[in-house]
Amino acid sequence: MSAAERAGPAPAPPPLSDGLVLPRVIGHRGAAAHAPENTLAGLRAAAALGVTMVEVDVKLTADGVPVLMHDEWLDRTTDGSGAVRATPWADIRRLDAGSRFGSGFAGEPVPSLEQALDLALSLGLAVDLEIKPCRGREAETARKAIEVARAFWPADRSAPLISSFSARSLAAAAQAAPGWPRGLLIGRPYRSWWRIARRLGAALVGIDHRYVTIRRVEYCRAQGLPLLAYTVNDPIRARTVYNFGIRSVFSDAPDRVAGP
Ligand code: G3P
Ligand code: MG
Repeated sequence: MSAAERAGPAPAPPPLSDGLVLPRVIGHRGAAAHAPENTLAGLRAAAALGVTMVEVDVKLTADGVPVLMHDEWLDRTTDGSGAVRATPWADIRRLDAGSRFGSGFAGEPVPSLEQALDLALSLGLAVDLEIKPCRGREAETARKAIEVARAFWPADRSAPLISSFSARSLAAAAQAAPGWPRGLLIGRPYRSWWRIARRLGAALVGIDHRYVTIRRVEYCRAQGLPLLAYTVNDPIRARTVYNFGIRSVFSDAPDRVAGP
């Protein structure tokens, strides 16, 4: 039995000071093991699994419409090809983002952020909008995503979490929606990442789970920053990082990694 397992289950986390209550498991790209990533079907699959919060990736089309898309290119997840940043919404909206995942999802479209938020609201899902900008559009992507979200996200619902690997996107988010919580994403920890998190007023940090150590979790806690881990699909790994003190995990398969 490992030290993490001997330590027993981690206590449930308290709410963040800004009122955002993070669940132990956040559906990654919806619930990407169960339905095509970043689609409305993915949000429905997450809700059906009992997930209360989903993470989605937001990019801008050529004409500046925020859509759910992870990659720079359309090719991996849709039947289209070419760069998202060079393709207008009128073309992207006609693509099939379901068939590559499975024939049962044929015809599932790439949703606009507006369509996704509308569905998330009706399903009662909290959202983490990961700003995934094409190069050079870091601030613009954050501003447009927040503009759309602000237009119809009810004031009595907990504001979306805005997360990004891009410090420029988070700085723009801080200006556009100072009261909305922000999360700095890091892959392998780099020098002074926590200083950047502080400077951006981040409420939390998301780290690649392969770099989670007890020392890093404790260091983060000492800085007053909850640490979240992505993307955890293996139940044993999930238990290990929870026991290290990780607050929440992002998972493609939330049903496999239920928190303690
Ligand atoms: O937000 C956590 C996670 O989504 C970051 O990585 O590449 O899956 O967007 P990625
Ligand atoms: Mg993401």
